[in-house]
Order: sequence, then structure tokens, then C-alpha cells
Amino acid sequence: MEVREEEVVSIIGPNGSGKSTLMKTIFGLLKPMEGKVCWNEEDISGLKPNQIVRKQMSYVPQTSNIFQSLTVTENLNMGAFIREDDYSDRIREIFEIFPQLEEYRNQYAGKLSGGEQQMVAMGRALMLEPTILLLDEPSAGLAPNLVDMILERVEEINRTGVALLIVEQNAKDALEISDRGYVLAMGRKEYEDTAQGLLDNEEVGELYLGG
Ligand SMILES: Nc1ncnc2c1ncn2[C@@H]1O[C@H](COP(=O)(O)OP(=O)(O)O)[C@@H](O)[C@H]1O
Ligand SMILES: [Mg+2]
Repeated sequence: MEVREEEVVSIIGPNGSGKSTLMKTIFGLLKPMEGKVCWNEEDISGLKPNQIVRKQMSYVPQTSNIFQSLTVTENLNMGAFIREDDYSDRIREIFEIFPQLEEYRNQYAGKLSGGEQQMVAMGRALMLEPTILLLDEPSAGLAPNLVDMILERVEEINRTGVALLIVEQNAKDALEISDRGYVLAMGRKEYEDTAQGLLDNEEVGELYLGG
């Protein structure tokens, strides 16, 4: 599988097909049993997440992705933990993408709604100015209108030059904003195509996109 510069790529597939495992493996939380993970032509398999974040890759896990007992600003500061420069401009840029976060900047993240917490998680992941962001089910459990809002934010992040690899249960919606996609089934790549190609594929539609 590959993600090219400034692309949006979706991974779709049933529950338990290995999507989260794949994301964790790319980000160094798990070690691949076979194969390797390369980023910018460098083999990063076996590197730890704390080494990978320094290579401008960020990851938002499916669950437990914010510090509930810290404020929004403190969460963003945590995302910048290894930065030694003045990153106040970066916080301003993140508030431009997520205006609600600015409004709630002094609130405890755990008190925010599910959609807002997801924005905190994405904002935190953007603090190190990644060139690729991995998002594992950013809209899980959110109401349909919030799913659209999250995917709009994804497009906006992409417009700032960041490539995205997304796992999304709302697979059709995710493909609508993606350049390309992969279907994972039982831990294996079943299909790969342009996002439109997957949307137009009858078999993929019937098996993985709800008919
Ligand atoms: N390539 C693989 N080969 C064997 N087992 C796998 C593979 N990928 C994932 N698994 C196992 O399948 C289970 C579900 O995987 P997970 O990544 O959580 O699925 P998803 O995020 O698609 O719902 C986990 O127990 C994981 O260890
Ligand atoms: Mg998962």
C-alpha cells in the first residue's frame, strides 16, 4: 500500500479486518511480522512512535486519543512536547481549522462533545506539522452531521499540504473525499483503486459499502 504526497487515501473493510492494526504498525506501535514500512524512502519498520513523530508522521488512535483532564490548550501543548521553538503560530493555524477549539481553549477536553474531542485529537496530532496524518475512525460514534463536519476538516487539513491515511466506518463518505482507497479483508488487501473506482465497483459496493 502506498500514500503519495498530499494524497487522501482511505482504508475500508469490515470490523476486525485489521485496519487499526495496520495503522498501529505503520506508526511503530506494533512490529510487522513481514514486510516493511517506508516513509520518504526510509525504512522506518521497527522505529518507535517517539522516533516516527520526528519524521513528520502523526497518528490519531481510534480511542483514548486526548488527555481528558487537560484543557484544549494543554492538549495542544502536549502535541508540541518535543518542539523547542515558539509554536504559537501553529496553535493559531490549528484554531483556524477548528474555530470551536479556540472558543473552548480553556475548557477541559473531557467536558467537550464527541465531535469537539475528535477535533482536539486532530489538532494535537497536527502540532508537529506532519506531512502525513493517520486517522483511525475519526467520526466513530458521531451523529451524521458531525461525520460530514469531520470529513470537511479532513479536506481542509489536506489543503494545507498534509497527506492523510484514513480508516472510516462511513466508507462511502470517506471515499468521496479521497483520491484513492484500499479494501482490507481478513488482514489482506482485497482491492485497491482510485476512490471513484471503488465507489463504482459493484462487488466492493455490495460487500463493503452497504449495497
Ligand atoms: N494481518 C493480520 N494478520 C493476522 N491477524 C491480524 C492482522 N491484522 C489484524 N489482526 C488481528 O485482528 C484483530 C482485529 O484487528 P483490528 O486491527 O482491530 O481490526 P479493525 O480495526 O479493522 O476493526 C486483532 O486481534 C488483530 O490482532
Ligand atoms: Mg479499528
